[in-house]
Amino acid sequence: MNASISWSDGYLLGFNPMDQVHQEFVEFVAALQQAADSDLDRVLGVLLQHCQAHFEQEDRWMLESNFPASECHINEHAAVLKSIHEVKQQLAIGNVAVCRQLGNELAAWFPGHADYLDSALAHWMCKRTLGGKPVILRRNIKSTELPIDSV
Ligand SMILES: [Fe+2]
Ligand SMILES: [Fe+2]
Repeated sequence: MNASISWSDGYLLGFNPMDQVHQEFVEFVAALQQAADSDLDRVLGVLLQHCQAHFEQEDRWMLESNFPASECHINEHAAVLKSIHEVKQQLAIGNVAVCRQLGNELAAWFPGHADYLDSALAHWMCKRTLGGKPVILRRNIKSTELPIDSV
């Protein structure tokens, strides 16, 4: 059995909202790695919900702030979500091994993803936030929805 992932401050990227979500992700993956067979379906469901929110949030940050390298990052999120959905279906027909494998694969996947893709986004978001750009104002307003003279 692989050792389960555990949080380390080495995973901190300096953008607090993302760091909090990452800590949660690591906890849920560890829970999946450690779950009893009878609890796998519940724990996988929790992880799936987490990942949907986690990835949606990052995708939104990228799109709303015109992050320059979003495509590869968004695709990677989609691929992971697809895998989790597939494993959930497999688990429903009794394939416990594939679920165990997913836990180990996500534990191995996260450090690299955080290091290469999330860290660039965290840096970008920090720069925008600290630079005083009005990111918050842009969040819920699409310029196409506004008459030009009110912008
Ligand atoms: Fe992330
Ligand atoms: Fe990400």
